Amino acid sequence: MAMKSLHDLFVHTLRDIYHAEKQGLKAMRQMSRKVTSPELKSLLETHHEETEHQVEELEHVFESLSMRPRGTNCEAVHGLLEEARELMEEAADDRTRDAGIVAAVQAVEHYEIARYGTLVAWGEALGHSDAVEALRRIRDQEMATDQKLSELAEDTLNPAADTGEGEDGGATDGTAPTQVEAEAIEEETAEQDEPVDAMADVKENAELADAEQEDGEDEGVVDLGEERSGRSGKRGKGRGKRAA
Ligand SMILES: [Fe+2]
Ligand SMILES: [Fe+2]
Repeated sequence: MAMKSLHDLFVHTLRDIYHAEKQGLKAMRQMSRKVTSPELKSLLETHHEETEHQVEELEHVFESLSMRPRGTNCEAVHGLLEEARELMEEAADDRTRDAGIVAAVQAVEHYEIARYGTLVAWGEALGHSDAVEALRRIRDQEMATDQKLSELAEDTLNPAADTGEGEDGGATDGTAPTQVEAEAIEEETAEQDEPVDAMADVKENAELADAEQEDGEDEGVVDLGEERSGRSGKRGKGRGKRAA
């Protein structure tokens, strides 16, 4: 859609966040299945419920503007959730995965906070007072969730996660490595610094970009974890829906 006015920007962003929330719903469910910490699981489940209400609230916002609720592909959230999926696959143990999941969810929350902040400001400028009230309520919920995630990470999850010091530096007691250990670290680092096949990265990125292109835009969701193999088929179904 051509964006000629603040109204057009407002509608586009509303559709973007509507799509992002629906993606978030499925992602949160998948993440909470992988979570070990009961506190984190409960936090994700609570926010899943909140998000279901947010989707309904957004539908009312569309209705208050005499519009049919509709999403438009949100590449930013697709990217954030793709990163979350990779992280969940790569985390070597449960506590590391929990700490990583918090960071991934917070990245999405921060995106949402930014979007709702913009929508509140634009809604005010456009005089959509009912919409502004709902959007502000949702933004506050995202901010509270972000805050709770920070507290949980700082108080419980980060201290519980393996710091990795034992493997590399031999400095698990908090002291600096000895001369012998320092030399060993230096050797190990030198090995890791060996040139890598830079073209392999370029090729891989190009393939990923192609895959994204094929997926196109739709109102589908990114699958995390096990369901990944079916992803491009699902995401492709609504290709070309964005219009007007
Ligand atoms: Fe949300
Ligand atoms: Fe959220």
